[in-house]
Amino acid sequence: MGAAHAPEPVSAPRRGMGRESRPPESPGASVGGLLLLALSEPREPKRRRPGGGEAEGAAKRRCACPEPEPEPEPGRGRVPLGRLALDYVVPCMALYGICVKDAFLGEALGGRILAEAEGLRRGGKLRDGQLVSPRTVPARSIRGDQIAWVEGREPGCSAIGALVARVDRLILHCAGKLGGYDIQGRTKAMVACYPGNGRGYVRHVDNPHGDGRCVTCIYYLNRHWNSKVHGGILQIYPEGRSVVANIEPIFDRLLIFWSDRRNPHQVKPAYATRYAITVWYFDAKERAEAKGRHQLAAAQKDDPLPGTPVNDPT
Ligand code: OGA
Ligand code: MN
Repeated sequence: MGAAHAPEPVSAPRRGMGRESRPPESPGASVGGLLLLALSEPREPKRRRPGGGEAEGAAKRRCACPEPEPEPEPGRGRVPLGRLALDYVVPCMALYGICVKDAFLGEALGGRILAEAEGLRRGGKLRDGQLVSPRTVPARSIRGDQIAWVEGREPGCSAIGALVARVDRLILHCAGKLGGYDIQGRTKAMVACYPGNGRGYVRHVDNPHGDGRCVTCIYYLNRHWNSKVHGGILQIYPEGRSVVANIEPIFDRLLIFWSDRRNPHQVKPAYATRYAITVWYFDAKERAEAKGRHQLAAAQKDDPLPGTPVNDPT
C-alpha cells in the first residue's frame, strides 16, 4: 500500500523556505516563514491540579492499543503527557496542522525501538511498500521504502508496542480537542525502512479520499542523521500556505500532522538507512462511512477500499 495512500499529482513546487527543522528557542519563532511553536518542549506548564498532573486514567482509553503502559515518572526535563498534549500538541495542531516533539521517549526506549526495527529488517520481515490503487507504474517508483505492520505484541516488538501505547495516551489526552475529530481507533504501526539507495516517496496525501484516517503520527529513529549528506527530509507543503516544512527524520522525534489534503508531503531521496514508525488515527464517523462505502463497493465489485492499506491492519 502507499503507506496506504495513492500519491497526489505533483504540482509545481513552491518556494522552499523552511531550512531548518530544529526547534526555535522560543515560542512563536519563525522557521523559514512557517511559524511554529517551540518544538522541543512545551511552554511553562499551567498548574492544573495542585501537587500533580493529570490523574492516571483520567482520559478514557478508547484506542485499540496494546496493554496500557504505566505512565512513567517524568524524568528530568520530561514533560507529563497530559501537559504535552494540552499545552503543546493541541495548540500546535490548531495553528499549524503540524507538530514536532523531540526527545519524545528518551535514549533508552528509543534505542530499544530502533533495535527492534533493525531486527525486523534483519529477519526479513519487511516488504516493499505498496499502493492502494493498482497503477501502471511500479510502486517502487513512487515509494522506495520497505514496511511491516506491527501490532506490538509480536515477539521482539515490545518496545514498538510501548511506543504505540505512549502515542495512544498522548492522543487520548487530546480527546475532543483535535480538529473536532472523534478519535476511536487507529492502524497498527507501520515500520518503514528506506534502505538508503536514493529512493524516497513522491509527493502525496495520506488520506485524499476520506478513508477515515485523520491524524498521522510518525516516530523517527535515525541517530546522527545529517540531511545534507543523507537526504531523507520529509517536506510538508501545508495547503494554502506558500511555505514548506522541512522535517529531519532524527532519532526520538515524534511528528504529528493532519492526514488529509491539508498536508501534501514527500520524502526526499535517502542515502542512508532511514527508519520511521507511523501510526494513523481514525475519526470514528469518517471511518464508519468509509467502511460502509467499502461494503457497498465490495458487494458490486471486488475492489479494495480506496485509500486503505491493501494489507489493512485494522
Ligand atoms: C508515508 C510517509 C514520511 C516519512 O509513509 O506515508 O509520508 O517521513 N512517510 O517517513
Ligand atoms: Mn505519507
